[in-house]
Amino acid sequence: MSIQHDKIRKLVQRRENARKGGGEERIAAQHAKGKMTARERLDLLLDEGSFEEFDIFVQHRCTNFGMENVRFDGDGVVTGMGTIDGRLVYVYAQDFTVSGGSMSGTMAQKICKVQDMAIRNGAPFIALNDSGGARIQEGICSLAGYGEIFERNILASGVIPQISGIFGPCAGGAVYSPALTDFTVMVKDTSYMFLTGPGVVKTVTGEVVTQEELGGAGVHAGKSGVAHFAAGSEQEAIQTIRALLSFLPSNNREQAPLLTCTDPVSRTDDSLNDIIPDSSQKAYDMYDVIGSIVDDGKFLEIHRKWAKNIIVGFARMNGRSVGIVANQPKVLAGVLDINASRKAARFVRFCDAFNIPLVTLVDVPGFLCGTGQEYGGIISHGAKLLYAYGEATVPKVTVTLRKAYGGAHITMSCKQLRGDINYAWPSANIAVMGAEGAVEVLYSKDLKLMSDKKQKEEYISEKKQEYKELFCNPYNAASYGYIDDIIEPRNTRFRVIRALEQLAEKKQENPWKKHDNLPL
Ligand code: HXC
Repeated sequence: MSIQHDKIRKLVQRRENARKGGGEERIAAQHAKGKMTARERLDLLLDEGSFEEFDIFVQHRCTNFGMENVRFDGDGVVTGMGTIDGRLVYVYAQDFTVSGGSMSGTMAQKICKVQDMAIRNGAPFIALNDSGGARIQEGICSLAGYGEIFERNILASGVIPQISGIFGPCAGGAVYSPALTDFTVMVKDTSYMFLTGPGVVKTVTGEVVTQEELGGAGVHAGKSGVAHFAAGSEQEAIQTIRALLSFLPSNNREQAPLLTCTDPVSRTDDSLNDIIPDSSQKAYDMYDVIGSIVDDGKFLEIHRKWAKNIIVGFARMNGRSVGIVANQPKVLAGVLDINASRKAARFVRFCDAFNIPLVTLVDVPGFLCGTGQEYGGIISHGAKLLYAYGEATVPKVTVTLRKAYGGAHITMSCKQLRGDINYAWPSANIAVMGAEGAVEVLYSKDLKLMSDKKQKEEYISEKKQEYKELFCNPYNAASYGYIDDIIEPRNTRFRVIRALEQLAEKKQENPWKKHDNLPL
């Protein structure tokens, strides 16, 4: 064998070894936990044969605690570029088989390199986490590495989409990288995120709690809102990331991919003419409306299990990616509370940052009242959503289906917050408040003077009717031009698509500023 061939053989051999990470035994242990390895995850995530790995020969430089004898090529993380549906992405996947995927200084350098490339080349960044956190033997070098990664997450925010998958432990300060990215996908039963684990929690607070109860996928997708998706398996999590990406542009200067639409644009749906119940106290399912108006009824919901009184997610209309925001009358009557405001505000801001038009479906009785909400700061949280809509310059098409009362009407993408096209169904009630509340306030003195119950009821009913005729309709708002047109529900798909087509080239700018001061 020639010297050159021998060198090539050694290269191939070294690569092969590196691809085994921490070795067969640790790979088997990973599989025994029901988890895939870093490379298996990347294989599933990326288009076949598209992965190009960087820094496979990087090793850690630590010499503390005998670490000089524990070196692996690649050092606990696989990094590189590849494609998803033919589009360039940058990725890393932590390799739990090497020192538990713990973060060394060199591992951080590898991650930062792909982050820099993603920002420079305008491509999405996808992080697959599975790590024991800061590599204890490296001390401050590990912490500094996290700092470098966080800084890049921050600089990339609003420039390229950033998606985090959590496939194992993610604890301590390490949780802040996913928290800084746009979307977090967790896997049920095998992933968890918390600042301090159950042991420390018990010592500090006396609370006894399992890992799953403290920071499992169910907790973060249903209670805290930290995770946007809780997948039933690693495969499902990876498919979710791929599906999510299909709705997003590669960076903030591009539009999301436009697909050919086979669902007729002018498709009408008579069932929408019957969907609003006669009684305003009765609910209907907003998912039926969304399913009816978007292309092929396909909707990728974000935060499906959290703050269900508002629905947010991606769909396509005539092939164009849109962000849907819709109150859900079936849950808490669709009221805006702290979590609903936070959920929708972050989604609206994401869509605005990445040129995705917003379609807002309104049926909202108001903001939730009471000490629980006030003490929790509903004023500031509600302001987030108001702010998000008000600052957004992407096309904004709003349809008011039924209730749109008070501050909640203004918040939900009204005309005054630069809503571009605002439609209403004939069933819309756009007013300061509902008839019950209004009559109580307006006629409280009269009512106090009435002792006869029947007389009182008749009076209330008469005044309610008067109020309803005057305000509980869309015509009053339309008479001021605050509603552009009142549309037949069955035509909603066609009308919204036509509005979006009209707004496709919309250009709008906000005053120059270093950055805004969103009420956080
Ligand atoms: C170095 C680590 C490590 C770490 C795990 N390993 N975590 N090595 N630093 N942080 C090593 C283990 O020694 C072991 O090596 C291998 O990875 C696999 O770990 P196991 O414990 O055998 O696996 P498992 O039973 O599945 O438990 C996983 C675990 C546990 C729950 C993650 O390893 C663990 O509790 N690790 C420590 C977690 C932690 O406290 N991290 C620091 C958090 S603070 P061998 O060679 O035996 O196979 C933090 C600050 C970040 O991260 C700040 C950012 C700003």
